[in-house]
Parts: sequence; structure tokens; C-alpha cells
Amino acid sequence: MVPLEEAVRRALQHTRGAYAIVVLCSDQPDRIVAVRQISPLVIGLGEGETLLASDIPALLSYTRDVLIIEDGEMAVITARGATVQRLDGAAVAKEPMRITWDAEMAEKGGYPHFMLKEIHEQPRALQETMMGRLDSPGAPELDGVSYTSEFVRGLRKLWITACGTAYHAGLVGRWVIEHWAQIPVEPELASELRYRHPLIDPNAMAVAISQSGETADTLAAAREARKRGARLAAITNVVGSTLSREADDVLYVRAGPEIAVASSKAYITMLVALQMLALDLGLRRGTMATARAAQIISALKALPGKAQEVLLREGEVESLAGRLADRGHMFFIGRGLDYAVAQEGSLKLKEISYLHSEALAAGELKHGTLALVTPGVPVFALVTQRHVYEKTLSNIQEVKARGGLVIAVAYDSDTEITKHAEVVLRIPDTDDDLAPVLSIIPLQLFAYYVARERGNDIDQPRNLAKSVTVE
Ligand code: G6P
Repeated sequence: MVPLEEAVRRALQHTRGAYAIVVLCSDQPDRIVAVRQISPLVIGLGEGETLLASDIPALLSYTRDVLIIEDGEMAVITARGATVQRLDGAAVAKEPMRITWDAEMAEKGGYPHFMLKEIHEQPRALQETMMGRLDSPGAPELDGVSYTSEFVRGLRKLWITACGTAYHAGLVGRWVIEHWAQIPVEPELASELRYRHPLIDPNAMAVAISQSGETADTLAAAREARKRGARLAAITNVVGSTLSREADDVLYVRAGPEIAVASSKAYITMLVALQMLALDLGLRRGTMATARAAQIISALKALPGKAQEVLLREGEVESLAGRLADRGHMFFIGRGLDYAVAQEGSLKLKEISYLHSEALAAGELKHGTLALVTPGVPVFALVTQRHVYEKTLSNIQEVKARGGLVIAVAYDSDTEITKHAEVVLRIPDTDDDLAPVLSIIPLQLFAYYVARERGNDIDQPRNLAKSVTVE
């Protein structure tokens, strides 16, 4: 009989992607074999028992001695305890780690706040969102989405509805759906849509976006759209939430639990869910060429690695936050998708730093708000959208002429921007339509470090709640 370890090793030659697998065999009941690739796996060494879990907090009521299994390692658990080997069979000597944190700290994985932990979880969360959905080069496979191509071809309009950060994700969704699937999209705040007699009809689809799937206004707006005959698609993080139960199609973002009130990884995964949806709609409608789809799919797959690169530049954002934490007002400007991200960057800052900030479509600045730009006022300018790059540069000039302090968020390849901005926060180059997934990260980090500098309660900011289930 092939030993279980060997059987698992052979089977793994046929796997790819992220997983943590635990294997039992009825013919070899004396052992359990576990392996991981990207997804977490830890072993708890208890009194007369050995435990397996996906994270440390789950083990803390049984034991404080743990072995962390790394990528490409295999753990074999028997009555005598646990041994670890590499996939080629070579033994790995591992010292158990004694956990001295309390449960809350352990849940934070060593980070001082859930928000920072969740910001750092984004590369992995992105991977989860895409897992198994972009495997075929031609088209996304969206589990939970069951509309037919005939229905999609007959669509006249799409409505996107949500609140807060989810609404800002919807603004990005509008852009990519209109661009790739050529369907007019109307994004509307749920608290407005539900009271406004919207002209929704059966040729429309409504997309409701909600991390929790329980936000009262979003549920009401989604029901209103459905009552008017629209098909309802939900983009949500919480499996089994009210929104997911009521929708015709559900695309889970798979961000994992988000604890901090200010949303980060849920937003970024909503963006990718919407991009995959837009891709699917475009392919079914014939407005997206398969070659372009293949390009986008490969650019999407590169995002987790690029998000990780942005996180490695955290120190620059932290020192900028130290410099600006005592300012009274800040502005965020951008055009197109950059404007959508500017709105989310501004919201993050307000939520946790309690500083006043405002996001503006860059071209709108001169129609009023420019009056507030005085010497030293920080203005974040996002410049990832190449088709309007020159236009945004001229708005940057308007700010500079009034003495404003320009902080740009720009691609690595953009050498021009250093001539115009005082500070440049860099992100790796990507397809412009996907840029929001990367350009939001420095802004999330900025909000975090300003709030920390100001000594605020970052995970539970004053007056705000994670899930607003009342109207
Ligand atoms: C609250 C949270 C926000 C969130 C909004 C919508 O206001 O503080 O962070 O964006 O609700 O929540 P949802 O669960 O519907 O995405």
C-alpha cells in the first residue's frame, strides 16, 4: 500500500493555486496528512492531543504551543504528535512557537490594529477573489452567477446601488462595465435610490454591493429594483447574508472577515469582483474581444503581487502622514477612475483621522473649491489614467499656482510627474482600467498612519458602525 504521505505528494503534482488540505485515509487510520500552499495552516500541540487549524486564535483555548506550516510543507499527525517535511520528503526541524499574546492580539496577527492587518491581507484576499474564476483564458467562470447570455444581450441598463465604501467600489464598477460591456450604468446611493421612483424595468439588472449584505438601505434599494422587475445581482462578502439570499445572482468577494469599521480589503475585492463581472458581461455581449479579455485576465492575475509591492513602500506613506497629520483640510482630485478612487481615499481619511477632506473631479476644482486651496494645503492628485493625464496635470498646475502641496499617486514608469508634484507615491504599472486596485493602497495607509499619529481609535472610530442595519 502506498503510504498516505506519498499518495498526497503524488496527488499534489496535479494541483495549482492556493489551498490548505487535510487528508485522512480509512486504510491508514493512524495518521492525518496536511499541506498548504498560500492558505494558512497551523498545528496546535495540546496535552495528549494535536490540533489543526487555519489560524492561531482557533487553537488558543486548547494550547499555546503551535507549529506554523509554511508553503510547500507537509505535516504528518499521529498519536505521537506532529512531524513536518518538505514535499520532496526531506524532514524539516521546527521548534514549536509559544503564543504569549491574548486572543485579541492573536486575532490581529501581531498587527497593532485590525485595519493595518486587513490592509496587509489584501494581496491574499485578491487571490481568493479570483481563485478558480479566471482559470480558462477565454472567459471568467463566476460561480453563483446564473444569468443567461441571452438575458445579458437584452440588457438595456444596469443600476448599481450601495452605501459608503461599497458605493465607491460601484463607481469603479460603472466605469469598467460601461467600457467593456457597453451598457449604460447608473450608480446610485442606496439611501437615495429607494426613495426616488427610479425608472427601473425588466430590461435592467441591479447590482447591489455590500460587504455585510445586511445594510438596511442597500437591502431596501435592492428590493425596490426587484419589485420593478430587474434581475438582482449581489456582490457581498458574507455568505448567507440577507442580500445573498434575496439575489438572483451572487458573487462573493471572499475577502475573509473584516473587523475594522473602515473597510479596506472588502473594497479592493469588490473592485476585482466588479471587473470580473464586467468582463463576463462584455464577452457575452460581444463588446469585449477575446484577445483583450485574455490581456485583462493576465493583468488581473498580476494584481496580488503588485499590491504586495505597494505595501513594501509603506514607510514612505508613514513618514508623509507624520508630516501632514496636523493639517486641517485635505483634497483628493482625479479624473475618471482616479476620481472614483479619490472619493474612497477621502472617505478613509475622514472616517479614522477625523480630518476634513473632500474629493473632487479634477476638472471641477476651478468651479469653486479652488478658493480653499491656500499655501500648504495638501492636495492628493491621482494620475493613473493615461487618456486624461495631460488634463490632470493642468489641474495640478492650478493647485501649485495657489501654493498647494501636491502629492501624486502615479505609476512607476511616470517620470514626468516628479516635475509637477512635491511628493510622489508610486504604484507598479498596470492596465489603467485596473489601476484603482493599486492606487487606493497608499491612500488607505495614509489614512491609517494619520489616524495613528493623532492617537485615534482606528478600528472603532467615533460615531460609526461596521454594519448599519437601521435606516
Ligand atoms: C458602514 C461602514 C462602511 C461601509 C458601509 C456599507 O457605514 O462603516 O465602512 O462601507 O456601512 O456597508 P456594507 O456592509 O453594506 O458594505
